[in-house]
Amino acid sequence: MNTVKTVRELRAAIAGARSKGKRIAFVPTMGNLHSGHVALVEKAGQRADFVVTSIFVNPLQFGPTEDLDKYPRSLAADQEKLIDAGCHLLFTPDVDEVYPDGMQGQTLIHVPGVSAGLCGASRPGHFDGVATVVCKLFNMVQPDLAIFGEKDFQQLAVIRKLVRDLNMSIQIMGEPTVRAEDGLALSSRNNYLTANQRAAAPALYACLTEMASAIRQGERDFAKLTAKGKTALRKAGFRPDYLEVCEASSLRSATADDPDLVILAAAFIGKTRLIDNLAFSLAVDA
Ligand code: PAF
Repeated sequence: MNTVKTVRELRAAIAGARSKGKRIAFVPTMGNLHSGHVALVEKAGQRADFVVTSIFVNPLQFGPTEDLDKYPRSLAADQEKLIDAGCHLLFTPDVDEVYPDGMQGQTLIHVPGVSAGLCGASRPGHFDGVATVVCKLFNMVQPDLAIFGEKDFQQLAVIRKLVRDLNMSIQIMGEPTVRAEDGLALSSRNNYLTANQRAAAPALYACLTEMASAIRQGERDFAKLTAKGKTALRKAGFRPDYLEVCEASSLRSATADDPDLVILAAAFIGKTRLIDNLAFSLAVDA
């Protein structure tokens, strides 16, 4: 695996692969890689001949009070994991390489609709930062396909719309969330949890599975269901940010007739904000 830091080196390496007729897959990350990222890179290797991964902790998607400075960075360990997973080219640009004129005055991409509620409401500007950097990275790499984790369900919806609305010729694939044995979704932020918080954290996914099972059994009073879910989360030691039942593709609030649903949650345990989701179809069940 070759590691490059500049757009120039990146483009040269990709041009080399393209000239050999290779299909390019891209996995954008912020590093501190875990098995969930490894699964994305492995999937990329199954779908293309040349796998590019980026590690860039994008300041534009962090709010002023968020954890940009303490976001975990572990380049050497990440490189080992990427080599084992079959990555061919790693792009690790500095902030100045991505934002040479600074972030003030940077053209921003705003994806309306799907970015508005949920994490978009709790983290103003977050999805503009994500959409902007993903658009820039797509223009730098120009991949045939790009793979993202379904754990960031709303982010994936934003990126799908970005690509559709801007006529980008890139296939977007979502990969299922990788979970620990007790159900906790793998996340770089799990590193912040104390032993007690880690022990309590699976309650987040347990809450989603209980809500989904109630809906499958016919419950359609989503307000009652989410109120009950938030109570269960508080009992487990969480401070819920949001817990919502949404229509799976538009992410608007679900109605009783929607067949494709997703339950999305964000909740603080101590100072750490965890997110998770559970998507399911009632049509398949019928
Ligand atoms: O999901 C992430 O790690 C980031 O939001 C992404 C897509 C790499 C953009 O910075």
